Amino acid sequence: MKVFETITALRQYLNENRTLGHTIGFVPTMGCLHQGHCALISQSAHENDITVLSIFLNPTQFSCREDFDRYPRCQADDMNLAKKAGATVIFAPTEKEVYPHGFQTVVDVPELAKPMCGEKRPGHFTGMATIVLKLLNIVSPNRAYFGQKDYQQVCIVKQMVRDLNLETEIIACPTVREESGLACSSRNTRLTPEEKERASWIYRLLQETVEAAECNSISTEAATALHDQLKGELADHGMQVEYVEIVDGVTLQPRNQIEGGTLVAVAVFIGEVRLIDNVLISGKA
Ligand code: PAF
Repeated sequence: MKVFETITALRQYLNENRTLGHTIGFVPTMGCLHQGHCALISQSAHENDITVLSIFLNPTQFSCREDFDRYPRCQADDMNLAKKAGATVIFAPTEKEVYPHGFQTVVDVPELAKPMCGEKRPGHFTGMATIVLKLLNIVSPNRAYFGQKDYQQVCIVKQMVRDLNLETEIIACPTVREESGLACSSRNTRLTPEEKERASWIYRLLQETVEAAECNSISTEAATALHDQLKGELADHGMQVEYVEIVDGVTLQPRNQIEGGTLVAVAVFIGEVRLIDNVLISGKA
């Protein structure tokens, strides 16, 4: 596994490989890898000749400095996990390499970035879209892999790629879960065992909501009742609810009916740890 810290060296290596006809898969991360990242790396390794994993804790997508400072960092473990999962190249640049003095351009995908996490974390998606565009320009991969736990992020990246005519194919991969159902997240390492047990209710309650929605024909009143019930039950299980949203799975605009293609998404705090999860309703509902 090769490790690069500079854009020039990485580009030179990847250009040589492109000349040889090798395809390039890309998995962008902020480090502290978990099974969700490993699944993205494995899928990329399966579908491409080379898999580049970036590890860069991007300061511009944290609206709060404390959240950035508290974000877990585990570089030594990351290298081992990445290698085992099939990464062939690691790109781990410094902040100065990515944002040299005088950096000022940003990318905004305003409509998709407005609701849900965008409303609660001002500037987050601008920071995220900007770094993803920079990384896609640096790596120029054939395919890039993202997890569906960050559903809104995937929608924004896909829209940006369409709008700006990038040639990379964006591949959204299913959320990987711990045995309890809790969605894998780097933030899970900050939960105590008791908090983890509480957090496992997020997916159970989301599933119950989806089952209720899929069994009945869901009118406006019933959808509102399900929304309120989910919010109440998350709170009853010791979570501070930031949002529960029932939205269109493509536009992310609120829906007052639940049917196929509707996304039920939540963000909660357990102590100081913010967790998100979602379920996309399939079928007829
Ligand atoms: O999902 C993440 O870890 C980050 O938002 C990403 C895509 C690596 C950009 O910093």
